[in-house]
Amino acid sequence: MDHRSGAVTPAAQRLSRPLDAIDVPHKKVEKICCLGAGYVGGPTCAVIAFKNPHIQVTIVDLNAARIAAWNSDVLPIYEPGLEDVVKACRGKNLFFSTDVDQGIIDADLIFVSVNTPTKTKGMGAGYAADLGYVESATRHIARVAQGDKIVVEKSTVPCRTAQSMRFILEANSRPGIRFDILSNPEFLAEGTAIADLMNPDRVLIGSLNTDAGRSAAASLADVYAGWVRREQIITMNLWSSELSKLAANAMLAQRISSINALSAICEATGADVDEVGYACGLDSRIGPKFLKASVGFGGSCFQKDILNLVYLSESLHLPEVAAYWRQVVEMNEYQKKRFLNRIISCLFNTLTGKKVAILGFAFKKDTGDTRESPAITLCKYLRAERANVAIYDPKVAESQIWLDLTEPGVTDDLADLQKQVSIAEDAYSACAGADAVVVCTEWDEFKCANLDYKRVYESMNKPAFIFDGRLILDQKQLEQIGFHVETIGRPRSNFTTPKDWE
Ligand code: UDX
Ligand code: ADP
Repeated sequence: MDHRSGAVTPAAQRLSRPLDAIDVPHKKVEKICCLGAGYVGGPTCAVIAFKNPHIQVTIVDLNAARIAAWNSDVLPIYEPGLEDVVKACRGKNLFFSTDVDQGIIDADLIFVSVNTPTKTKGMGAGYAADLGYVESATRHIARVAQGDKIVVEKSTVPCRTAQSMRFILEANSRPGIRFDILSNPEFLAEGTAIADLMNPDRVLIGSLNTDAGRSAAASLADVYAGWVRREQIITMNLWSSELSKLAANAMLAQRISSINALSAICEATGADVDEVGYACGLDSRIGPKFLKASVGFGGSCFQKDILNLVYLSESLHLPEVAAYWRQVVEMNEYQKKRFLNRIISCLFNTLTGKKVAILGFAFKKDTGDTRESPAITLCKYLRAERANVAIYDPKVAESQIWLDLTEPGVTDDLADLQKQVSIAEDAYSACAGADAVVVCTEWDEFKCANLDYKRVYESMNKPAFIFDGRLILDQKQLEQIGFHVETIGRPRSNFTTPKDWE
């Protein structure tokens, strides 16, 4: 993958501890356990097993259905290339199990890859990470461990979580057991997880700057050295490593909010956001990645990590810093609302009873994950406008869509929801009879080369509108078919004013 060049800049080398910091005497890891068989733990530890046939890797989870799926032919998550990796080593040196105790007892090194959602209640609700799962996993390790362990934070956690983990471990374990805590944040992106893991930009390992800390870091570095060049394995202090993960995600999301803010100016002025992004990206100081305007960023990390950073800043009495990062999320919300307003105003200011086809429900292409997907927000807005919504996504399970669109605990809401929302088998049936088609996810199958838009057009109510929230459509080609095309970051078409009225 070209965006993972593997280059480590001189600045990175200067900032990290000297590379020989990981060449200290250390134990060889023979058995790894991963707590949490989710989007992070599953692919990461599958690749570790694949690249280290001499290491036994056991991924455990409390969720029996999830483990059963990992052991079946239909894996619980869709990720290109994952199936091949799992099939190559499952049953040999890669195991999926619900026996958390045994996994912990056997392992020399334990990855903690459990969920860290945003708190919904109590202090810091809506901002702070809910560390309940991390704490309970940590207590589990303390309770059952019978020997020394290296415990690795893989989940994204607030700065200084390692300290709390160590405190809990030491207070609850058998006497004489030693725990070394490392931070080893995961930078994989969904949809490209396997490629990112196989060829990472860098592997970051944070440890205490003590002999024991460096030795534990060296043990983990050895695992990655199974396929990653030593120069790309960066070691640093624990707190820098924890914060770097939040910082990297915040900066990536900030670029998207920046280009999305510019997309609003483009729409109002006649500039084209793709051209502006291209021109800016050619400046080597800026670079071309993460400058694609969209209906908004989604995913389990960006919003959560920025809000976490906001909370951290507030707790440290840094309100200006908190406000700065909060604006990145606010711009993302604004972008979704702006897109909805454009749909409403183009459809003659009312959506009541009109059919709107939503193409794509995942938060990005090549994943079935819908966490924080902009399509969810958009569907909720469209429902409030009394539109009838037909959703199609190539990978998202129908049950997941219903779950995302239903408020938790309100059972009869589903029946009400289903009066207004339907899920289609393919793009053509979603679009049939629609007044508007809205592209929410950039799946390749929605591109003009892959979908018969003439057929789509012929099946729609006229005038037929198409809203491109991902800048993947060929506007000219669609206009020739007869569509009114509205694209994020491009000016509105002046289709409602007849020529002789101008
Ligand atoms: C992100 C980080 O990239 C990854 O390093 C980290 O480990 C987890 O969080 P992920 O959320 O899986 O990964 O996907 P990413 O490719 O970063 O996309 C996030 C969102 O931003 C998606 O909704 C995507 O569509 C959107 N996006 C991305 C844009 O709108 N424009 C862009 O230019 C890039
Ligand atoms: P991520 O995207 O961070 O991987 P997921 O929600 O996909 O998050 O996965 C986290 C997994 O961790 C879930 O499958 C959940 O059941 C599991 N989990 C949570 N707490 C524990 C625990 N104490 N022990 C083992 N697994 C756990």
